[in-house]
Amino acid sequence: MKTANQNIKPITTKINEKGNIEIGGCDLIDLANQYGTPLYIFDEETIRSITKSYKDAFKNYPNMKMMFASKAFMTKAICKIMEQEGFGLDLCSGGELYTAKSANFDMSKTMFNGNNKTYEELSMAIEYGVGTISVDNFFELALLNSIAKSNNKTVRILLRITPGIECHTHEYIQTGHLDSKFGFDLTQLDEAITLIKDEYTNLELVGLHAHIGSQIFEKKVYFDEVEVMFREIKRIKDTHNLTLTEINLGGGLGIKYTEKDEPISIYDIAQTITESIEINSKKYGIECPSVFIEPGRSIVGTAGVTIYTAGSSKQVPNGRRYQAVDGGMSDNARPSLYQAEYTVEIANKPNETEKETVTIAGKHCESGDILAKDITLPIIEEGDVICFYNTGAYGYSMSSNYNRALKSAAILVNNGKSDIIINRQTYEQLCELDVIPGRLN
Ligand code: LLP
Repeated sequence: MKTANQNIKPITTKINEKGNIEIGGCDLIDLANQYGTPLYIFDEETIRSITKSYKDAFKNYPNMKMMFASKAFMTKAICKIMEQEGFGLDLCSGGELYTAKSANFDMSKTMFNGNNKTYEELSMAIEYGVGTISVDNFFELALLNSIAKSNNKTVRILLRITPGIECHTHEYIQTGHLDSKFGFDLTQLDEAITLIKDEYTNLELVGLHAHIGSQIFEKKVYFDEVEVMFREIKRIKDTHNLTLTEINLGGGLGIKYTEKDEPISIYDIAQTITESIEINSKKYGIECPSVFIEPGRSIVGTAGVTIYTAGSSKQVPNGRRYQAVDGGMSDNARPSLYQAEYTVEIANKPNETEKETVTIAGKHCESGDILAKDITLPIIEEGDVICFYNTGAYGYSMSSNYNRALKSAAILVNNGKSDIIINRQTYEQLCELDVIPGRLN
């Protein structure tokens, strides 16, 4: 069955009677007038359709637990939606911990991961009652144990492993060892477990965690990841007489940025994972553990679009036509960072037939600040509203104040209603943290 991550556009996208693009029952031109641009727009129905697909796809596997990888887009309103959808949260920084806690999220349904969690962050996680901490390395094992001990607490932990599966969007390689900054190499697991059993008695090891990549279009990698987990659980049982009851497979499911992308359905991924669990639990003689997944991009990516207003343009003699917009690499770092490509439309004239090849440039003082190169669009005029699809994941969350650009607002649309979920930053807020030392005055 097709799922919304396989769409380029939010599921409520239409062209209305005015000939404008509408999402969640809201005309994008009205939204541009009301909230200003650049503006991140999130379609609530698309987010909920995806979370429902995840729940439905795994409904025959009762031990399945879903968490949202909040790094893709973290704000208090999203925490509320995830809570209502019965999702937990995967958190990877003090800021994400703080946001979840501030939204009154049930912290027992969160998992904290990261390769260099600080003393402060780990203390915060313990104080907030985070459900599980995925421990990444030997340094952290010692640090976390000492913090837990001084707080008189026992902390449930997973060990983050590098399972030896490396994904490149369309193909993958499997190796014994992986050169990765994350997690324990499989050859280091025995030493870690011995330390936990013998010395780190304030840590309760319940399972293993891995994340094999992002924007994945392959099913087999998940099949193999489950197998590696079961193989290790069996080995740990035999070697250490320790029964692990949880595995966390990470996130990674891809979305459709352009027609070239062919992401898989959530139902297909669920089938692959549950089949692998069944086969490998028989193969290794292990009871089916609790299985966690923590998708980020596939939950919020398709739901989000960014709209900009067209400003200046430049025709290079015998060369490209550049059309500049009022945002750029500060609100979407992905094109300049990863050469990411997007599908673009003009919200006030999506269907015009006369077209041109144009390059959409940002407004930042940097030649690399290009949002979309050589795309075909109706002829753009100043004031047109340009819509970039699929910016919901890693758009706002990777935004910056480069050139002292203000962070854009984000709104949630549903059924003709729109609500602010992140206010547009003001110039006062921009300078709020600046300090002029007295001797400079
Ligand atoms: N779990 C862990 C431990 C992760 O490191 C990540 C993403 C996820 C889950 C969620 O993966 P997703 O379902 O979103 O693929 N900034 C990059 C993506 C970096 C992903 C990092 N880890 C981008 O914009 O493409």
